[in-house]
Amino acid sequence: MNQQPQPSPIRVDRCVCTQRTFTSLRDEAISRQTDTDTVASQCGAGQHCGLCKPYLREMQRTGVTVFHHLLPMDEPTRHTGAA
Ligand code: FES
Repeated sequence: MNQQPQPSPIRVDRCVCTQRTFTSLRDEAISRQTDTDTVASQCGAGQHCGLCKPYLREMQRTGVTVFHHLLPMDEPTRHTGAA
């Protein structure tokens, strides 16, 4: 029996905290003639829970805006309460 590979159920395509898709960040960066890091930092993408940070970096590096695999997470930032 010849089984076809199943498509990945994983789809990561946005910063959930800001609801900005990676495609919209890339398109805005192109239209404003800047980079995706600048657009992301201005709209807050990557600055809340941080779960999208590895994907934002990978998008900046490769131009890919939809991921069908999970990327390793960043180390959590330790909040000490110190000012
Ligand atoms: S998913 Fe992007 S900061 Fe939370």
